[in-house]
Amino acid sequence: MTETPASGATIEIRGLSKEFGTFRAVDDVSFDVHPGRITGFLGPNGAGKTTTLRMILGLVRPTAGTATIGGRPYAAIHQPLRTVGAALEATSFHPGRSGRDHLRVLADTAGIPTTRVDELLELTGIPAAARKRAGEYSMGMRQRLGLSAALLGDPQVLLLDEPANGLDPEGIRWLRGFLRSLADSGKTILVSSHLLQEVEQTVDDVVIISNGRLVRSGAIAELHGPPTSLVRTSEPNRLIGALRVSDIEADLAADDPTAVIAVTEDLRLVGDVAHRSGLPVWQLNHRASDLESVYFELTEGTNRNLGATADASSPAPTEGADR
Ligand SMILES: Nc1ncnc2c1ncn2[C@@H]1O[C@H](COP(=O)(O)OP(=O)(O)OP(=O)(O)O)[C@@H](O)[C@H]1O
Ligand SMILES: [Mg+2]
Repeated sequence: MTETPASGATIEIRGLSKEFGTFRAVDDVSFDVHPGRITGFLGPNGAGKTTTLRMILGLVRPTAGTATIGGRPYAAIHQPLRTVGAALEATSFHPGRSGRDHLRVLADTAGIPTTRVDELLELTGIPAAARKRAGEYSMGMRQRLGLSAALLGDPQVLLLDEPANGLDPEGIRWLRGFLRSLADSGKTILVSSHLLQEVEQTVDDVVIISNGRLVRSGAIAELHGPPTSLVRTSEPNRLIGALRVSDIEADLAADDPTAVIAVTEDLRLVGDVAHRSGLPVWQLNHRASDLESVYFELTEGTNRNLGATADASSPAPTEGADR
């Protein structure tokens, strides 16, 4: 039987749940992550992102549900390092070992040639740091080393937990281009973040969780909603009436009594309607869709069905004790 399909592997999450004691950290989550695309795994702090990633990697046993990669649970993949690369938060490196040595040890255990180690240090932009003890690495350097380790076996699937944390703006831009080229080569990429803004320009798809529950999954373009225009005038209600007569959906803007939001990107049409109604136009422009507000709306106010409040009911983490 072949290890993975030649052209990518889909991650399938079905009804995945995890309870720590009575606290439900992940609650009946289902979604797919497709090859050739970058999927952003989003949610506020404590939403359950890392726990989900750990379940995909077989590091935490689900209370219910399944997570498979290319149709198999992680534990059933014969050469995991060559199939799935992962960089989880707070990945610990032996502090006294250099970055290069760290990767060499990993490469050795997986039968990967050491030439790949230098190739990756170069690729992730830390060749100069290769001889330095990992304990002396900055946060950004640790992220890059973690990414190198994840990529050692040239895996088909990449799971990255908050990889932009600690990167400078140049590093973030580099990461964006790097992930894009990997996705273009057909890899399946799941990248978590608690900030939509951070991944907005990077991802094709989003999976948003809040309080352990899935609140949205799909193409990021669908989050934007329909294109709208903003027009300011002396008599907004008259303009709204005129726009509706012309079959253009319109409403008052929430934050400005002179502003109307029209659901169209055709500025000329809106201007013509105003002109025909004899109304002055004080301002007319396309309205940038505010993804950040959409994200806040989606992740606010969803309550866990176990415990009083998320924080109060959350037991102290017993990292690693749950296997
Ligand atoms: N081993 C554990 N024992 C008990 N509770 C845990 C354990 N691991 C995670 N939790 C709890 O599960 C919830 C989800 O944690 P998780 O680390 O998955 O969130 P996250 O989405 O990765 O958050 P962040 O953005 O802060 O990294 C939190 O309330 C956390 O305290
Ligand atoms: Mg996390």
